[in-house]
Amino acid sequence: MENFIFKNATEIIFGKDTENLVGSKVKEYSKSDKILFCYGGGSIKRSGLYDRVIKSLKENGIEFIELPGIKPNPRLGPVKEGIRLCRENNIKFVLSVGGGSSADTAKAIAVGVPYKGDVWDFYTGKAEVKEALPVGVVITLPATGTESSNSSVIMNEDGWFKKGLNTVLIRPAFSIMNPELTFTLPEYQTACGACDIMAHIMERYFTNVKHVDITDRLCEAALRNVINNAPIVLKDPKNYDARAEIMWTGTIAHNDVLSAGRIGDWASHKIEHELSGETDIAHGAGLAIVFPAWMKYVYKHDINRFVQFAVRVWDVDLSYSSCEDIVLEGIRRMTAFFKSMGLPVTLKEGSIGEDKIEEMANKCTDNGTKTVGQFVKLNKDDIVKILNLAK
Ligand code: NZQ
Ligand code: ZN
Repeated sequence: MENFIFKNATEIIFGKDTENLVGSKVKEYSKSDKILFCYGGGSIKRSGLYDRVIKSLKENGIEFIELPGIKPNPRLGPVKEGIRLCRENNIKFVLSVGGGSSADTAKAIAVGVPYKGDVWDFYTGKAEVKEALPVGVVITLPATGTESSNSSVIMNEDGWFKKGLNTVLIRPAFSIMNPELTFTLPEYQTACGACDIMAHIMERYFTNVKHVDITDRLCEAALRNVINNAPIVLKDPKNYDARAEIMWTGTIAHNDVLSAGRIGDWASHKIEHELSGETDIAHGAGLAIVFPAWMKYVYKHDINRFVQFAVRVWDVDLSYSSCEDIVLEGIRRMTAFFKSMGLPVTLKEGSIGEDKIEEMANKCTDNGTKTVGQFVKLNKDDIVKILNLAK
């Protein structure tokens, strides 16, 4: 096991009606009475959540300026608009109500306000975050884990580059998580969310670090929990207990408990960001396309780890004739599971043309100048081969 420091300061407020506490939580963490309030394209208005949030903010004497209309695969433009609004109004707190795209925008604004340069510098690695405004989140989509993660992923419309920023300074101060708020999710978003949660666990699971049994077992349990509960919520969207299981697993999947002492891979996420950057496909759907192909390409690197995954997560019987057969059956079962949730598992099913493969591989590796992934370091040619396996 590797040395590690674990600190996750996000306060989680989980359960029924917890959104009504948003005003008092903002009051607790904000240094000003005026905040920026970010949200997406309207789901929170249709569900009535918007009205409850406004009521709670007003009851606590919090004024707010709204930044509505954040799109999935969130763009840099609204981030810059949010930074301008905060500076002009002396705002010192950013609240997001909605999915990961809104929360990631709030995080980007939070690092951009105190920074004199272009906020995109943080996403390209040109500058390091030194300070950030506190962010509060009411999450309505269990998927990204952004509610307590150290990440924000933003798309730059200039060239359609989608890039992530990681810094502990953007872990939200608090996150409100009411599983009832996820009852309104369309089936497709529920499925994409389940796949993203599984992907966050698998990125951590496939490691070269030895003697990480505790986190192996925790990862396997978390994966099995999604596999058990996703079909339940797809059939019965208002099943509170199954929604709660998924929601909490989504947080654990990405709050770094499962990374302790390990070095994760993250190549599939980097490749997927090119898919959603290029075509605007939902992140979870892009992962359902990339992960099976990535696994087929790299499993020989550590076949024992893949056997363990197939047996412990997918219940593949050890009596299969060879290790390779066990591994391939595990990958087949995972792919079938993604398909059963209605997700695309090939580029074709995701309406992504083969003609984009070269460009995506180039963007992912800065024109072939760097590798991605830790479990197996992949160069541009490897990524082209993986995307060809995903055809
Ligand atoms: O925009 P609205 O109207 O709110 O509708 C959204 C949007 O259309 C809808 N939605 C959200 N909650 C709903 C709902 N509809 C009905 N009922 C609800 N309760 O769902 C659609 C997708 O929303 P979005 O926020 O884009 O989805 P998600 O939460 O999956 O976020 C995806 C983004 O997060 C990034 C992804 O790359 C992608 O850009 N990621 C962020 C990470 C992080 N910050 O830690 C890690 C992830 O790996 C990921 O890369
Ligand atoms: Zn993800």
